[in-house]
Formats: sequence, C-alpha cells, structure tokens
Amino acid sequence: MTAQQKPGIDVDTGHDYDGIREYDNPLPMWWFTTFVVCIAFGYAYWMHYEVARTGPSLMAEYQADQAEAARRAAASKPLTDELLVALSKDPQTVETGAKLFSQSCAVCHGAGGEGKIGPNLTDAYWLHGPKPTDIHKVIAGGVVEKGMPAWNPVLGPERVRALAAYVLTRRGLELPGKGPQGERYVAVQ
Ligand code: HEC
Repeated sequence: MTAQQKPGIDVDTGHDYDGIREYDNPLPMWWFTTFVVCIAFGYAYWMHYEVARTGPSLMAEYQADQAEAARRAAASKPLTDELLVALSKDPQTVETGAKLFSQSCAVCHGAGGEGKIGPNLTDAYWLHGPKPTDIHKVIAGGVVEKGMPAWNPVLGPERVRALAAYVLTRRGLELPGKGPQGERYVAVQ
C-alpha cells in the first residue's frame, strides 16, 4: 500500500492471473445502485404483469390497438346507412353513445329516448326521416329553430356517429312516452 491509498482500497488479494492482479475493491456506487434498482424494477414488473396480472397482457394491448385502428378507419369512411348500422352493432361505440346520450340528450328526449320536450326516438314516427343518415343529419346539424341543438360543433363527428349508432339501437323499441310526431315509417333499414 502506498501513502496515497485510502484504507481498504486497491488491497491486493495476492491473486495473479498471467500478470493481471486482483484487488478486493467495493463496487462503484453508481453500479451497485443500478443493480439494486434493476432487481427492484424486475420484481415489480413481474408481480404486475405475471403474478397479480394487474397490468394488461400483450394480447389485450394488441386487441385494444386493433379495435382503435378499426374505429379510426371507420371514422374516416364516408357516412352511409350501412356504416351507421354497422356501428350500431359495435358494443363499444354503442356504450359511448349511451353515455353521451344520458349526458346531452336525456333532458329533452328522456332517459331511454321515449321523448319529453323532444320527440320519442323509439317509435315509428319521424319528423326528419327514419334512415340512419337522416337521424345522423339531425343530430349533427340540429333543427335549431325547433329547439334541437346542433351537436357536431359541440361534440365532434366521432361522438355524433356514436350517438346516431346508439339512437339506432333504440329505434323501434316503442317505449311509452311522447306521442307520435311526424310520419309513420315501417320496415326501414
Ligand atoms: C334542448 C332540447 C334537446 C336536446 C338537448 C336534444 N334534442 Fe334532439 N330534438 C329536440 C327537439 C325539440 C326535436 C324536434 C325538432 C323538430 O321539431 O324538428 C329533436 C329532434 C331530434 C331527432 C329527430 C327526431 C325525428 O323525429 O326526426 C333526433 C334523432 C334527435 N333529436 C336526437 C338527439 C340527440 C342524439 C341528442 C343529444 C346529443 C339530442 N337530440 C338532444 C330537442 C332536443
């Protein structure tokens, strides 16, 4: 040991491997800390994803991404009756629509769409036409002079589609509520 050496540092263990001498020095603090943090992270990761399974699996994340991609693709498709009917069969779109309906529409159309200030959306009578695109048009653009607000500027096109899809699931349920308004239509898509 030379005069500059700190005690316990560079103490030669006496092992010599072809001229390479082994010291018994402590690990550098940065290295040791990284090592401990890696073990702690690895343990937490393993508990989260593999043992407790509180984190989403790779498959669940993949499926969620796929569904999101499909929804985005649908959002950029031209609006047709067929597209709206297809959306009305997609559970997630309908759920979104149902939530939005209770927030924004139920005050005037009743909690189930049976009508209040606004017309009954579950009967066969329609003021502005019974087709999916007719319904979408009224929701998007409103009938402002008659008290139906335009929702496109408020909620945006994607939510308006979800609302139209939800209204389609209520169409024909014939809930007792507001009496007939408009023309009667039977057997529409
Ligand atoms: C402030 C009250 C009010 C709110 C809120 C409201 N509506 Fe209306 N809605 C009306 C009225 C009133 C009419 C009838 C318009 C007319 O007489 O032309 C109507 C008409 C409609 C129609 C057409 C019905 C038909 O017979 O053709 C649809 C579909 C509709 N609303 C859906 C919605 C949706 C979806 C929402 C929520 C995003 C909503 N409305 C929110 C008052 C409202």
